Amino acid sequence: MELLGKNYLKVEALSKRFGDVCILSDISFSVAKGEFVCIVGSSGCGKSTLLRSLSGLDTAYEGRITVDDQEVKKPTKHIGYIFQENRLFPWMTVEENVGFSLDSGTREEKRRKVSEAVAMVGLKEAVRQYPKTLSGGMAQRANIARTLVNKPEVLLLDEPFGALDAFTKINLQEKLCEIRSAEKTTMIMVTHDIEEAIYLADRIIILDKNPGVIKKIIKVDLPRPRDRNGNYFNDLRKEIYGYFFETKEIVEDYNI
Ligand SMILES: Nc1ncnc2c1ncn2[C@@H]1O[C@H](COP(=O)(O)OP(=O)(O)OP(=O)(O)O)[C@@H](O)[C@H]1O
Ligand SMILES: [Mg+2]
Repeated sequence: MELLGKNYLKVEALSKRFGDVCILSDISFSVAKGEFVCIVGSSGCGKSTLLRSLSGLDTAYEGRITVDDQEVKKPTKHIGYIFQENRLFPWMTVEENVGFSLDSGTREEKRRKVSEAVAMVGLKEAVRQYPKTLSGGMAQRANIARTLVNKPEVLLLDEPFGALDAFTKINLQEKLCEIRSAEKTTMIMVTHDIEEAIYLADRIIILDKNPGVIKKIIKVDLPRPRDRNGNYFNDLRKEIYGYFFETKEIVEDYNI
């Protein structure tokens, strides 16, 4: 896919403290329109904190975040956010959950948008079901549909498949690839799973901990669909594991 507008989403010198503790320090990177970026890093390094800032939910930081040259100061429908934890309303069916965040349009338009979003994640058969009757993978698909229904230009995903078994996870990774190529959505996804990052991302941002700084940005130069057992894939996996177990060395040349 040709990536247009390399600076579509820009994070400039972002630093974030909670009280006296510096969680994120001097984070700068940019994302092209339509690009898929994965953020990996150990637990507590500030991945969710970074994503919350990108979503506009948290603006108490130093630095600047822009999308299409507009500063992100509050949540908007252009930036979809799939939270780390499932936020489906238990008293609503799948279709009611998915339709909940739609505030404009006629009844008919809303119904069409909901059914498109539900079809995109392959959940048509379950629209009348309540969350407690869904499997983990189905619930996560409903969660994704709920965000997709507003056709966001940027989709932020916080470990969306973290709690799922390997088969369901692979299935949903494929779904995400389909959605991305159909909708041309710019995606930024946090994951603990290095293989998942290599499978999905155009670039992988590796975050270090205490404070959270960018340790390295790696370009994944592999055609899609990707072979999880290919040589390049395996070499990249080894390289990335290496960053988590080597001595701390901050790589300076991460700005693109
Ligand atoms: N509201 C808050 N008040 C104080 N400290 C916070 C708050 N939210 C997060 N933190 C701290 O900031 C650090 C980063 O948290 P964050 O949730 O961003 O980590 P993470 O990389 O997403 O971890 P995980 O992989 O476990 O989800 C942690 O030390 C956490 O305790
Ligand atoms: Mg987190």
